[in-house]
Amino acid sequence: IVLSLAATVVAYLLGSLSFAVIVSRAMGLSDPRTYGSKNPGATNVLRSGSKLAAVVTLLFDAFKGWLPVVLVRWYGADYGLHEGTQALVGLAAFAGHLWPVFFRFEGGKGVATALGVLLGVSGWLGLATLATWVIIAAFFRYSSLASLVSAAFAPFFYLLAGGVAWHVDAGVGVAIAVMAGLLAWRHKLNIQRLIQGKESRLGSKGGQAA
Ligand code: G3P
Repeated sequence: IVLSLAATVVAYLLGSLSFAVIVSRAMGLSDPRTYGSKNPGATNVLRSGSKLAAVVTLLFDAFKGWLPVVLVRWYGADYGLHEGTQALVGLAAFAGHLWPVFFRFEGGKGVATALGVLLGVSGWLGLATLATWVIIAAFFRYSSLASLVSAAFAPFFYLLAGGVAWHVDAGVGVAIAVMAGLLAWRHKLNIQRLIQGKESRLGSKGGQAA
């Protein structure tokens, strides 16, 4: 239990690295918290005009969710850690992204990090969710809508995949549902803008309004 708690704290600290801010700073771009949706996330970094910075942000923000989960999945058993610890570290990394200790607890919406966690739990689960995001984004050109729809599907994909593999862990299932709920809640302004038809589309550099 001590090790499980320690892993959770480390995952939270890792999740607290807001890569939208770090990458933008390293690449000499303005702080994503000052333009567009003001969100420190890959979608908003894309509004700076730098596709590279957006992709690097996406990869690192996803990586920090993926790493703690796969480490527990691959090596946890050797140290007496159960599957529930995957759920704990995944949630902790996700929470770190939303409420980063290094950035005055003002973080992002958790889309990339949640994707990383899902990929860590199961490659197929992550890919199915990513495919959902890509399909919705390709059709509607809204990153937020794609994120909301894929988050809604993720718990069902987990149940389905687990059902096929004859194995569903309750802790992991709950963690995925909680992430989806928090992610939707962090998108409340996006949801308002979508309803009002004011959400900025992918590829347009607009995206005003916080
Ligand atoms: O990655 C978050 C995305 O779903 C929405 O981001 O910047 O349009 O609020 P943004």
